[in-house]
Amino acid sequence: MAEFDPKALFSMSYGMYIVSSHLAEKANGQIANAVMQTTAEPATITVCLNRENLTERCVQETGLFAVSVLQEEVPMTFIGTFGFKSGRDIDKFAGVDHVTGGLNIPVVREWCLSAFEAKVTGRLNLGTHTLFAGEIVSAWVFKEGIPLTYANYHLVKRGKSPKTAPTFAFNDMK
Ligand SMILES: Cc1cc2nc3c(=O)[nH]c(=O)nc-3n(C[C@H](O)[C@H](O)[C@H](O)COP(=O)(O)O)c2cc1C
Repeated sequence: MAEFDPKALFSMSYGMYIVSSHLAEKANGQIANAVMQTTAEPATITVCLNRENLTERCVQETGLFAVSVLQEEVPMTFIGTFGFKSGRDIDKFAGVDHVTGGLNIPVVREWCLSAFEAKVTGRLNLGTHTLFAGEIVSAWVFKEGIPLTYANYHLVKRGKSPKTAPTFAFNDMK
């Protein structure tokens, strides 16, 4: 019974995050839904980043990344800046509320409930993407609220995913 129904992938659940780092002191970050906690001791978080993205390059070079958890009320314009534009063309952090933690990397606070800073402990080349695992060294709660889910982004906000997102095919399945 060999079958491949791509709609099966549409039933998977994700959150929505900003993954950030820097390169030669320039802050950058991108939207990602391919993020999850993978172990508890030590607390580890993984992110899957397209190898064409500037953020992937930042994490490859520094071995450091931050993950900020987006809140449900985040406007589409904010997602547009971090999810559809590249830091190669614009300064995404200009005018964006952020903090700098112990790892000295930029951590987005605007429209975010919480955030983590991590040191890369493993990387796996998946062809189009790199899967980075990182040990969490700092964690902050900025405010209480409802985290944005990938399902809400697609079904309520009516958002799209660019080609660089691992779940790009969702666009065609609605
Ligand atoms: C809803 C959504 C989900 C996304 N998920 C991912 C993801 O998990 N991994 C990824 O590499 N890119 C993902 N992207 C695409 C990046 O955010 C996008 O390519 C970004 O412009 C890269 O910016 P940079 O070149 O400054 O790093 C997603 C975008 C959107 C809008």
